[in-house]
Amino acid sequence: MRYDILNILRAKNDYVSGEELGNMLGVSRAAIWKSITRLKEEGYNISSVSKRGYRLIDNRDVLNENEVRYSNIICFKEVDSTNEEGKRQAERGCTDGLVIVSDYQSGGKGRLGRSWSSDRAKDLYMSIVLKPDISPMEAPQLTLIAGIAVAKAVKSITGLDAGIKWPNDVIVNGKKLCGILTEMSAEIERIRYVVTGIGVNINRESFEGELKDKAASIYTETGQKYRRSIFIDEIVSELMKYYRLYCKSGFSAVKEDYNSLCINIGRIVRTTGNKAIKGKALGVNDNGELLIETETSIVPVLSGEVSLRLEDNKYI
Ligand code: ATP
Ligand code: BTN
Repeated sequence: MRYDILNILRAKNDYVSGEELGNMLGVSRAAIWKSITRLKEEGYNISSVSKRGYRLIDNRDVLNENEVRYSNIICFKEVDSTNEEGKRQAERGCTDGLVIVSDYQSGGKGRLGRSWSSDRAKDLYMSIVLKPDISPMEAPQLTLIAGIAVAKAVKSITGLDAGIKWPNDVIVNGKKLCGILTEMSAEIERIRYVVTGIGVNINRESFEGELKDKAASIYTETGQKYRRSIFIDEIVSELMKYYRLYCKSGFSAVKEDYNSLCINIGRIVRTTGNKAIKGKALGVNDNGELLIETETSIVPVLSGEVSLRLEDNKYI
């Protein structure tokens, strides 16, 4: 019921008395007061003035299940990592497509044991639990699909020219806007579930330390603040569209869309890791491996444990 009250206050954009709200919703004024208290506790800024009633003061970015179109979602104020929470939910038997978001992560994780920084209630920390019928070898393809979804969502919401640095970074103006981390639980042949975690910097005003020149947010690049729910809706809708296509027709069906967004193509790259490979990036193949043209051959590189550097060390 409290969200019905919220919707009325949003639509009226003026004071509405407790009695009027009570009549509209068929409940007592005391019940209205209780719901308003809950809404305030959740972070909504509602002013209460005697004889006039209640008014929503600003449209601040409160994140909860009510603010998002997608219904298979759980929102937290704080978790260790939305990927860890996704795994816990999957172990308890959640459905394919469950989305977890949180205002804050106390232990946000990047690839290869790195950490992902968190700024409370400003940015997007989201994970999706997926249960595709694929082998463990194919799981990194879901990172690529999530990259397409984020880059397309960012382009359509903001007009920014977002591209993907293979395999898992979404880049804007040469800086990292988003990172994606896919983890899985698998048997030898088949996966049990995959958790794909997406971190997008949305409203952060600035970055410190090692992120200072490396990271970007939607705000640093556009000067505009956005409600995080707009990004959740658009990213999840794109992701589910590509995921369904992928489940039906395999990675080859989404390969072209990935390559059209991939900023490595045509540039000299080198992999770091056990076996360094240097050459021109040609794009991903039907397995999602990056094809690198070296002096002697064309080598497919799997994303798993590899980091990619552009030879000139710049993203654009
Ligand atoms: P590569 O993907 O080629 O290995 P990378 O530096 O992007 O390079 P990742 O493991 O993909 O490495 O991402 C983790 C890195 O992301 C961290 O080491 C840190 O430098 C950076 N990082 C952490 N938090 C953020 C953030 N909020 N925004 C942008 N970058 C971040
Ligand atoms: C990377 O660039 O290395 C991947 C970063 C992934 C960050 C996201 S934020 C939501 C989800 N929860 C995590 O702990 N990590 C991912």
